[in-house]
Amino acid sequence: MNALYRAFQKLIKEELRKEMPERWRPAFHVAPPVGWLNDPNGLCQKDGIYHAFFQMAPFEPQGGLKFWGHSVSQDLIHWEFKGVPMLPDQPYDCHGAYSGSALVEGDQMSLFYTGNVKNLGDYNYVTNGRESNTILAVSKDGEKIESKKLLMTNADYPDDMTCHVRDPKVWKEGGRYYMVQGARTKEDKGVVLVFSSEDKYHWNYIHRLESEEKFGFMWECPDLYELDGQTILCISPQGVEQDGYWYANKYQTVTSVIHGDFRTDGVPEGFRELDGGFDFYAPQTFLTEDGRRILIGWMGMADVEDEYTNRTTEDGWQNVLTLARELSLKDGIVCQNPVRELSSWWNEEVSFEGQYTGNTDICYELNLKNTEKKWEVLIAGGLKLSWSPEEYVFRMEFTDGKLGCGRGLRAREIKACKDIRIVVDASCVEVFMNGGKDVFSTRFYPEKDQYTVKASGEDLTGSYRYRV
Ligand code: FRU
Repeated sequence: MNALYRAFQKLIKEELRKEMPERWRPAFHVAPPVGWLNDPNGLCQKDGIYHAFFQMAPFEPQGGLKFWGHSVSQDLIHWEFKGVPMLPDQPYDCHGAYSGSALVEGDQMSLFYTGNVKNLGDYNYVTNGRESNTILAVSKDGEKIESKKLLMTNADYPDDMTCHVRDPKVWKEGGRYYMVQGARTKEDKGVVLVFSSEDKYHWNYIHRLESEEKFGFMWECPDLYELDGQTILCISPQGVEQDGYWYANKYQTVTSVIHGDFRTDGVPEGFRELDGGFDFYAPQTFLTEDGRRILIGWMGMADVEDEYTNRTTEDGWQNVLTLARELSLKDGIVCQNPVRELSSWWNEEVSFEGQYTGNTDICYELNLKNTEKKWEVLIAGGLKLSWSPEEYVFRMEFTDGKLGCGRGLRAREIKACKDIRIVVDASCVEVFMNGGKDVFSTRFYPEKDQYTVKASGEDLTGSYRYRV
């Protein structure tokens, strides 16, 4: 541990001592105690314990120098913040310990991440002036980093890459290690680089996953995994144009089925946006010990301050991770549903028919059924979720500007909304429809007197679940 490490930890301790107001702090979503949070990193399960690391700027709720924060859980629902173990404390990661992933083997957690370095000088930081170093940090419990080793620098990436190569996701398959990294070529095309290794220290570049037609200028936070016998690629591209209701956010996250072998001739074919809401980006998945593929995303969005914001910055913190979501594949679509553990959070349930109106708790869940007819849900008097067979469009719309802090409308054409599950946690709303094919996530900021909900629709049946 160097002097910089000790100095940072002392400053972080002081930050953590600050008393923060609890309004809008979620109960079962990962949130930073102070400062800024973005991408989930190093998601894994080790000896039964779930670990969620995340990009964190501990000194600034508006973002800044990136560290890794760390929370643990026994059930993916109750999370406990453990500290800020990964620091930008080396010459090769001094301008940010950027995103990465975890590989658990025996009693060791290998954390692969990008060390961001911006050299001082007259640079554009795209084609020059930036180092994107691939680093391996080793830990036993996630709380203490035992060692760090520099594995690759820009010189190890293909010649036609800009300096933007980052976010290694690593896994083991058939006795070999594989790594995908997001990249921007010198022709401003987003691609994914695939590497392979025998020992996880020496890596060879083996293939590139790219679309025939350019789809954005940079692909961030790639993930590649098997789901129901198919190889799924997930990327968070930058620079994709809005197309009707699709891709309405500043940055997107999409999945694609890989045709061919990801190691040799694989090609992503067709992209589908994973979440149609205002706040979703840079998700990562991991495999649980009981074989489930779980996804957690960043429930936030970068570079949209002119459009929408988060009121918790007034309280010294910003952004959360999404609920842990179980993945499955239906009709070639990656479906997301809340982890089954969420059901045990609720211990009271009220069933209704036709409509439901009432005051709510700070956290609750609404389940709606038989909804092939027109329906509407009004949350906190100013967030309207609706669908009707006249238009076949689902809408998530803020009618109260303050409640959404500038968020307006997100929508998607949907043939029918058969089952709808709305999960509300203080300042987080996640809507899961049609077995998880259509998912919308948003933050919202209700005042105490706005804790109400109104659900109505022809032939609507449902239940309101809460916890006492
Ligand atoms: C995505 C991202 C990653 C990067 C990290 C830095 O939100 O830009 O590509 O590693 O955030 O915080």
